Amino acid sequence: MGEDHTKIAQWVEQFRPFAKEGNCASYIPALAQKNPNQLAIAIIGPDGSKMKAGDTTERFTLQSVSKIVTFILACMDKGLSYVLERVDVEPTGDTFNSIVRLESHQPGKPFNPMINAGAITVSSILSGDSPQEKIDNLLHFLENMLGKKVSVNEEVFQSEWQTANRNRALAYYLMASGYLDCPVEEALEVYLKQCAIEIDVSDLAMIGLVIANDGYHPILKTQLFPKQVAKLTKALMVTCGMYNASGKFAAFIGLPAKSGVSGAILAAVPGHASIQSPFPTGCGIGIYGPAIDTIGNSVAGVHLLKHIATEWNMNIF
Ligand code: DON
Repeated sequence: MGEDHTKIAQWVEQFRPFAKEGNCASYIPALAQKNPNQLAIAIIGPDGSKMKAGDTTERFTLQSVSKIVTFILACMDKGLSYVLERVDVEPTGDTFNSIVRLESHQPGKPFNPMINAGAITVSSILSGDSPQEKIDNLLHFLENMLGKKVSVNEEVFQSEWQTANRNRALAYYLMASGYLDCPVEEALEVYLKQCAIEIDVSDLAMIGLVIANDGYHPILKTQLFPKQVAKLTKALMVTCGMYNASGKFAAFIGLPAKSGVSGAILAAVPGHASIQSPFPTGCGIGIYGPAIDTIGNSVAGVHLLKHIATEWNMNIF
């Protein structure tokens, strides 16, 4: 383990320079101020064994990684068939904030929960009579999983709330076609607050570990969500988790993963794909590198993950 730990630290330094090929998300003012050269990784195995390297104390917001958590919670709150009546599970190949298919494909059902349209619908479905109650339920669910308190970064939320015209347009389309369970402004508040939940790379790795373990928390020894929901989530991560680079990510890396414009990447590695790694019974991987490419994925983060997956022969296919 010690030798592998040294390797991980070396790899972080090896791939850190790739950050120069990307930029921090500029459309959210609070994210634009981040240090683009940061890179961090945490990996956690089912026995609690852990490796960390790089800027691991840095905190950042979940952004689109939150979409997998709210999808899981909505399925638990309302049942799978209720959720799937309101959001499909088809990749689009379009950008994450695209509106085009809500108009061109009637009846305007969002294609999947990993793009903004689908995620806004999912946020509207969450249990709770007000946006605050929905967010409190979500925070509580995450706190159970992480064993610590988490909260919304108000500055990031406010900066997104004030510039959310495109998301607002998506939400009005969804409302017009009957795919929102609550008023537009409430759905948006939940969606943007979930994106602004602050975590670190170890938290990402822990969420990844529970998903890799089909909803079973191996350290708490509890089933946090149903296996069927975990399997569907992993399929969505493989097909839609890395925005419109998901096909290439599946083809050349081959792991269920989800990224966010904060530069976060979460990967869930099942036991059968990690036999040749220092985590032979599976693991969760969390990566943070705020310089993202034009699609929205961390440039240094994707390079680092690809290298690790290749070196340790981690590929679910
Ligand atoms: O909706 C937005 O613009 C962001 N809060 C979500 C960003 C993100 O990571 C990209 N989404 N798929």
